[in-house]
Amino acid sequence: MTVAFEIDGGKPLHGLVKVGGAKNSALKLLPAALLAPGRHVISNVPDVSDIATMVEVLRSMGVDTKTEGSVFTLDVPDEIDPVAPYDLTSRMRASIQILGPLLARCGRAQVAMPGGCNLGSRKLDMHLQALEEMGVEFSTSHGDLVAEAPKLKGGRIVLEFPSVGATENVLLTAMGTDAEIELDNAAREPELADLCEMLVAMGAEIEGVGTPTIRMRGTTTPKPVRQTVVGDRIEAGTYLVAGAITDGQVTVEGVDPLNLELFLQKLAQIGVEIDIGTNWVTASRSDSGLRAADVITLPFPGFPTDLQPQTAALLTFAQGTSVITENIFDGRYQYVNELERMGADIRTDGRHAIVTGPTALQGAPVAAPDIRAGAALVCAALAAPGHSSIANVELIDRGYEHLVAKVQGLGGAIERRM
Ligand code: EPU
Repeated sequence: MTVAFEIDGGKPLHGLVKVGGAKNSALKLLPAALLAPGRHVISNVPDVSDIATMVEVLRSMGVDTKTEGSVFTLDVPDEIDPVAPYDLTSRMRASIQILGPLLARCGRAQVAMPGGCNLGSRKLDMHLQALEEMGVEFSTSHGDLVAEAPKLKGGRIVLEFPSVGATENVLLTAMGTDAEIELDNAAREPELADLCEMLVAMGAEIEGVGTPTIRMRGTTTPKPVRQTVVGDRIEAGTYLVAGAITDGQVTVEGVDPLNLELFLQKLAQIGVEIDIGTNWVTASRSDSGLRAADVITLPFPGFPTDLQPQTAALLTFAQGTSVITENIFDGRYQYVNELERMGADIRTDGRHAIVTGPTALQGAPVAAPDIRAGAALVCAALAAPGHSSIANVELIDRGYEHLVAKVQGLGGAIERRM
């Protein structure tokens, strides 16, 4: 039997929740430490299982890691073994971010083809093409990707799509040369700014962070650094939905509202009152009730795909027909069948989902298909009267720290059953 969340729904959530550091930043900052031998200190690292997996990957390469709360100290040795083992990398797609630092540092890398959330096809073609343009040669060996970089070169690279992972791998690999790289159609996600800040602290020169064109010059003598992880905008957005969907009022603290701009605009359009400060956001339903709205996911600064399932759950409570268009992942509607078991009316057709509301959701046994879909089911179960049992919560644990304690702190009736 898998681990489950047992939820008694129908109670409004109220109060303040502190968000942790962004999983999708920390998962890149930890392997970036491989670039420079010596002691790195990374703070505000979230306590989620994907981070534990990344730490195991780094340990397997000889990195000594200590954690004190959210502060991670990494001692990177002078010699590292540039091989990432299958049993670890197959658990998580982000292990492909180990490629860049290993290539920059050792000129070669052997990484088992990554696994991770089942979100559709999720190819690596853009990573490989961009790195080939930098002089990396790839081959495969028994399920491993073998990368060799006799000499890394600079030049201009244009990504076909602003892929977060491909952008990061180019920047990480570029640390292995002092030739200038210009990356066009780069991703602009806020978590990338953390990585760039870390690379600059190590000695790189980087311009254009947060724009589609990044110019960078790496360094052959990188220094160990201290870096803090940005607050998790996706965790924050999830708790804001949990407040609004239960007709409560939730404040999230530890997140820059500018990193949630379009999501907050959409919530306001749906009928959620939003109040913001420098590092906090409060959300509660307006008196006029929830209204249908169309949602289109796009790379940052567009509406984040990682908040699409939670928003769909909220829209089941809204009056009217909402059309959701998912442009990032082709496997992101796996929560639909589960929400339908709870009483939602959602039809999907390729990239689109049509949500007709309001529907009176009821508690039901469901299973989490991936991290964010699982979070959407938690939101729905908190709002739906009756008992819900959510199976496969190991997937939710990959990206949400202390979810049970945080929801209980807001007054939600949730327990973990082993
Ligand atoms: N893609 C390709 N070829 C490539 C790279 C990407 O076809 O070489 C496709 C992917 O299959 C996907 C789209 O391009 O359809 C976007 O992929 P991207 O590379 O931008 O995403 P990622 O780096 O794989 C990160 C986050 C995701 C988040 C996306 C988009 C991490 C570890 N993961 O994935 O987070 O949804 O960016 O913002 O940073 C999550 O946290 O639940 C999660 C899935």
